[in-house]
Amino acid sequence: MGLRELVCGAGASFSSEGVDGLRVFYCSKFSAPPGVGLEVQRYGTSHLQRALGVTNKLLFSKNELYSLERDNDTLPLLLGVDSEDDDEHMGKIKNPSLQSIKWQLGFQAMSFDLYAKYGNNRTLSLVSPKKPYYQWRLRVPAGHVVRLVVVTLHGAMPGSCSAHKLSAYDFLLPLQNKIIARWCGLPLSGPSPVMKLMSSGNVMLVTFSFNRQRDGAIFKAYFQAVPKTGCGGSLLAWNGTVTSPYYPSYYPPNLDCSWTIRTPFPGYLLSVTIVMLDIQDSSSSDSCDKDWLDINGIRLCNPIVDSSRKRIYSSPVFLHFHSDESLTHKGFYILFRAFTQESSCPRQFRCGDGRCVPLRKVCDGVKDCSDGRDEARCCKYHSPGVGRCHLRCPNKVCVPRSSVCDGIIDCKDRSDEMNCTRAWHRGCSPSSYKCASGKCVNKKNPECDGIKDCGDGSDEMRCGCGTRPKKKSKIVGGTDAQLGAWPWQVSLQIERYGHVCGASLVSSRWLLSAAHCFQDSDAIKYSDARSWKVYLGMRVMNTVNNAVATRLVRRVVLHPQYDQFTSDYDIALLELSTPVFFSDWVQPVCVPAASHTFSSGTTCFVTGWGVLTEDGELATLLQEATVKIIGHSTCNKLYDDAVTPRMVCAGNLQGGVDACQGDSGGPLVCQEKGRRWFLAGIVSWGEGCARQNRPGVYTQVTKFSEWIHQQTKGQV
Ligand code: ARG
Repeated sequence: MGLRELVCGAGASFSSEGVDGLRVFYCSKFSAPPGVGLEVQRYGTSHLQRALGVTNKLLFSKNELYSLERDNDTLPLLLGVDSEDDDEHMGKIKNPSLQSIKWQLGFQAMSFDLYAKYGNNRTLSLVSPKKPYYQWRLRVPAGHVVRLVVVTLHGAMPGSCSAHKLSAYDFLLPLQNKIIARWCGLPLSGPSPVMKLMSSGNVMLVTFSFNRQRDGAIFKAYFQAVPKTGCGGSLLAWNGTVTSPYYPSYYPPNLDCSWTIRTPFPGYLLSVTIVMLDIQDSSSSDSCDKDWLDINGIRLCNPIVDSSRKRIYSSPVFLHFHSDESLTHKGFYILFRAFTQESSCPRQFRCGDGRCVPLRKVCDGVKDCSDGRDEARCCKYHSPGVGRCHLRCPNKVCVPRSSVCDGIIDCKDRSDEMNCTRAWHRGCSPSSYKCASGKCVNKKNPECDGIKDCGDGSDEMRCGCGTRPKKKSKIVGGTDAQLGAWPWQVSLQIERYGHVCGASLVSSRWLLSAAHCFQDSDAIKYSDARSWKVYLGMRVMNTVNNAVATRLVRRVVLHPQYDQFTSDYDIALLELSTPVFFSDWVQPVCVPAASHTFSSGTTCFVTGWGVLTEDGELATLLQEATVKIIGHSTCNKLYDDAVTPRMVCAGNLQGGVDACQGDSGGPLVCQEKGRRWFLAGIVSWGEGCARQNRPGVYTQVTKFSEWIHQQTKGQV
């Protein structure tokens, strides 16, 4: 049409039509080129109305076209009347001319145009208002949005919304569908900003209307230009926050933002805490069809009850926030944190919904988890009368038939190995070393110490392990390892994600690692042998040189009793696709005999490429750290009985040194008298990393010597 829209000078206009004789319209003014103006004059506005297909009333005067949009709500405010006062004012506005409309507005209303450059605060202030209607038309430079900070709002008496209201619009006209926020008679005041509102574009209209009671009304606010920012994005972090745009200001109208939260590497869950969610009035409907936050397909918009603030998701988590064109709120503030299952409920039992339950409540016959998981596997934990438990230790651990009298102590008090009717070699105690002949040696750790202790020499056979040919001489708080220092250290990688876990080479064909490294997540098949690639002889992450050998995995053998909720039996064997050749950089570590003891206080080493601090990054250079073996009962006190007989703790009770995420599956090794290195533990879990009184917890390899031997058909 060649028409250019301008905003009417007064911001609103009105006409009297219809039986009630009183209606209000918004007014838009258009300037037309003289030719078009003449056309309109000649054919009249009804022709133009038809041509435009609009029902709005069109007024034409002096080459200016006014479009009037009906709104029944605004007129009494403009005039400062209550609905019951309408009759009294009716006479004044019957058949008003354009001139009288302007006059009425000039008389009844005050309008201010304000502009703020970036960096300036412009004030809106109203003390003891004389007029019934005020409006401020706020503008900021293009590429910016308006932030209105309401500092004081006094004297808006509680009452009907049509009587008093402060409204902010996302437009320069008071259009109903552009209201950002509205206060009806809310007596708010205080030293801190009452409210911060945002516009979606570079303008905002603020109106304040009164009827009779204007005394004592104070409204103070300022506005500023805020550079317009995009929203959403991809987050790759161990923890962080996501908020609605410009939080804690009200979010602007007309938004769609998407976020993806991923943990830095796979296998971690995300705990998402909704600290604040203010999207829809609690009075509005349950259906979130106006503004909403969608987390993995679930729409939220209503206030959240405390019990549903925290949610557990597998990575990645998808968030989408939508706001429609009117009525905004404070928005949301969300915290997320990555965790592995075993540390999500330190020293407690983790329910399916992520809630933690004290261990003493597990298998006590009362369901504490909503999914009843705390009572589901009670043969293990055992509650009186539940499950098929062959023997129950005094600490409630249930020992299966096959573990009773098998020479391995499962109960803390050794009760599973006492009163054994099965002849466990004469002269043999559970702690004695069993020679191939069946005879026992009662010397401590006789295997591979360079001295023949068994008559058949079996204690010194199969001793091609635990040496470091090249070494004559995150892990948190560790140091860089030298090349060849830990020739059994393996990096287990998944093509798309890189390093995931550690492992130890125990023979030319077999690796030992942690079962928890092979638990499938939604997207990744960790349990599938074909997902993995094995790097041996490596020191600098992903630097493949002569020293480095790579292999594929033929088979992953998880311990059948692995329990992902308690991390018990956290052990897995990996069979390589083809055997590796030993070299100065690739050597197996010795797997200790079941009788081998690693006494508490012994200094051992843990190695790996895990993260260097709890929320840090993976190491590039292989790290080593010294840790001391910690007695079982000491550790159980620190971890509230979460340390099962299949676990061993090592660390430094002062904190500062420990294994951490990414070290899992890797070795805890101790050097024995014969100068060979033995695998005492497999990195399994811990509360955080390197925290005071929270040592690392490892799978105790001696508990699995037999299992390893069986599974590898004697190859280890
Ligand atoms: N589970 C972790 C991993 O997957 C290892 C945790 C070891 N934690 C510790 N504090 N030692 O890499």
